[in-house]
Amino acid sequence: MITNTELERKGNQYPNHIVSYEKNIDTLHFKTENGVCLQLTIVRDSILRFRYATSFNFENDFSYAISKFAKTGYNYLDIKETKELYIVTTSKVICRIFKSNMKIKLFDALDNTLISQDEIGFHWDESYEFGGNVVKMSKVSHDGESYYGLGDKADHLNLKGKRFENWVSDSFAYGKYTDPLYKAIPFYTGLHHGKSYGMFFDNTFKSHFDFAQERKNVTSYWALGGEMNYYFIYGPNMNDVVSKFTDLTGKPHQLPAMWSLGYHQCKWSYYPESKVKEITSKFRALSIPCDAIYLDIDYMEGFRCFTWNKDYFPDPKRMVKELADDGFKTIVIIDPGIKIDPEYDIFNEALEKDYFCKRADGPYMKGKVWPGACYFPDFTNKNVRSWWADLFKELVEDIGVKGVWNDMNEPAVMEVPGKTFPDDVRHDYDGNPCSHRKAHNIYGMQMARATYQGLKKFAYPKRPFVITRAAYAGTQRYSSTWTGDNVASWEHLWIANVQAQRMSLSGYSFVGSDIGGFAEQPNGELFTRWIQLGVFHPFCRTHSSGDHGDQEPWMFGDEVTGIVKSFIELRYQLLPYLYTAFWQYLNDGVPVLKSLVLYDQDDIQTHYRTDEFIYGNHILVCPILEPNSRGRRMYIPRGNWYNYWTQDYIIGGKEIWVDADLDRMPIFIKEGSIIPKYPIQQYVDEKDFDEITLEVRYKLGKEESLLYDDAHDGYDYTKGRYSLSKFNLTGKTNELIIQQHTTGTFKTPYISFKLKFIGLPFEISKIEVDNVEIDLESLNCTTHNMELIVDKTFSEIHIR
Ligand code: GLC
Repeated sequence: MITNTELERKGNQYPNHIVSYEKNIDTLHFKTENGVCLQLTIVRDSILRFRYATSFNFENDFSYAISKFAKTGYNYLDIKETKELYIVTTSKVICRIFKSNMKIKLFDALDNTLISQDEIGFHWDESYEFGGNVVKMSKVSHDGESYYGLGDKADHLNLKGKRFENWVSDSFAYGKYTDPLYKAIPFYTGLHHGKSYGMFFDNTFKSHFDFAQERKNVTSYWALGGEMNYYFIYGPNMNDVVSKFTDLTGKPHQLPAMWSLGYHQCKWSYYPESKVKEITSKFRALSIPCDAIYLDIDYMEGFRCFTWNKDYFPDPKRMVKELADDGFKTIVIIDPGIKIDPEYDIFNEALEKDYFCKRADGPYMKGKVWPGACYFPDFTNKNVRSWWADLFKELVEDIGVKGVWNDMNEPAVMEVPGKTFPDDVRHDYDGNPCSHRKAHNIYGMQMARATYQGLKKFAYPKRPFVITRAAYAGTQRYSSTWTGDNVASWEHLWIANVQAQRMSLSGYSFVGSDIGGFAEQPNGELFTRWIQLGVFHPFCRTHSSGDHGDQEPWMFGDEVTGIVKSFIELRYQLLPYLYTAFWQYLNDGVPVLKSLVLYDQDDIQTHYRTDEFIYGNHILVCPILEPNSRGRRMYIPRGNWYNYWTQDYIIGGKEIWVDADLDRMPIFIKEGSIIPKYPIQQYVDEKDFDEITLEVRYKLGKEESLLYDDAHDGYDYTKGRYSLSKFNLTGKTNELIIQQHTTGTFKTPYISFKLKFIGLPFEISKIEVDNVEIDLESLNCTTHNMELIVDKTFSEIHIR
């Protein structure tokens, strides 16, 4: 029975009988009688790509999302043909392709569980207006199936029962459920019967996803043009799905410089120079750690990109240097709109080189943004990207700016319907000329890419830092991101938490929100609760719009200042832990933030959880999301945990009440973990220290922890100059053993570890470090807690 109005319109066409099959290296080609072609590529044993053409010929195969470094190749491939179907088997999946209608069924190759099956499957509707097709896919939604991912949607973490649109949009003061927002990441993970798989619909046109909303048993997706082109990524573990998707669309091209993981202070706008200095000096006077200060659009001359307002900033190079001497990295905003001004060299140059986007009939794409009427570079043109990259020479190489913030790159246009370019605007699309219908969702991504190229070139030998508002799948390769113009409300604190987790499930870890809210003003309580969440987000920046009062940590009275300071300090103490989590993200594609479902998909309790998440591998965090709270109920996932504040030991797998007055938020540390902590610094690498702390929490059993370190900036680490310690902890009733194995040639500046043991269940009678007995009298020892300083090169510590 056809009921899906959007999907099942009258003009729908469907593949019919398969009449031919050919295999060409890793790709199988099927054709139907009515001219439908299916190209099935075995990308990896666990990743299959399905691509459909409706009238024999495919488009040029080109994607901005897929990384050229993505892993490919399979271990096993077998193809069988029966009367009714083709059976394609890899070591991970079995794919059945039905001859009568080209429908697909996918199974786990190990135990034959049915993972995904076409409902109607591929079908399409010809578009007379634009040419091409509206391409559609419908799959069966299985019993108890849950869905996650899809970028920055401001909705419940589990997408089941909802419908969404992907169309990158400037969404000032959006709300819970506003859709679409700033990102288009057409990727989701499905989970049913304990098994998880991913679907990446790599199509940049406006797309829609319906997760069993319109029809209870159907999940469908469709796009207003382009090809039906999707990747099926098999787990069955959700961590593997997310990490494979991250690998497919690319990991960041280098580790973030450690300073970029510090605290960032921003506002629209800090100017003139004296105001900037007043802010930075106050951070130092109050000893509130901070690494980055931002200049919003008012630093420019009439909002012309790559210019300075010399009344406000008479000598930017001097200022940037003075700030740098005080530990502050200067980050400046750069928008895509170039002011139409014949006196403006960048405008003239782009005009002369023919780098601006044009309308279908030839005129330039003219739109209003901050500077007034603007033209817009076509970042989908390679030459435009190189030109744009070179524009950063002065800012980065000469003036010393350390990071660039790309905004309004949806692209946002003011005072027009749709708040962006009209559909007919033309783009190069790297040699695949097209309209804005196809290029819209990747415009911001390509701008961030061009900016990244500039920073990479001119910041060298330091690492580049870029932040972007708009993004398509894969943008994580070039840039960090934030969640756009949110609001200072409790609802938005909830949204920020969900968005950061959802982005992490969508391959994008380096994410944060405008702490405190961009629009309107938080009270001290909301600001405090937001900072508490924000210090556990990979990107940690306070930002607000200038017209709603000030939002620096000291603006809400002494109590708030004190609490905010202590949480920013906690972020700085945990920097080695966060840096290690980033290293894992770059290596394995495992996100820094892990929603509980990612952490333990077998525990059904996690499938509808949104508030709690795991930070790195071992820290469980749950923000306080309501005013006047003295605590909250939260779910403690399976495993055993220590309350960070009280060290109380909690057995997980249940919901509990956790006390959390304004100066605390619920934080739990996994038993058996080894958490590295730096001494508090005012900015990254402010101090040389010869010792770092390792917090060791006893566990009966085994647990592995990692500590990654390197020079915190630059590229030496890619040549082996890093230090990676793997700690294996083994706890027995009367014993605790820690073994360390280190690789890499980097010599850390610290030479010893101060180990703090928590929760030891036995009285210590003997400690040996690398078989040498330690004098117990010399230690700071209470009954169950103890501190021990050891050479950082130790191999084994044995306590009994
Ligand atoms: C946009 C950005 C915001 C910025 C403002 C002025 O609204 O999202 O972060 O402060 O423009 O540049």
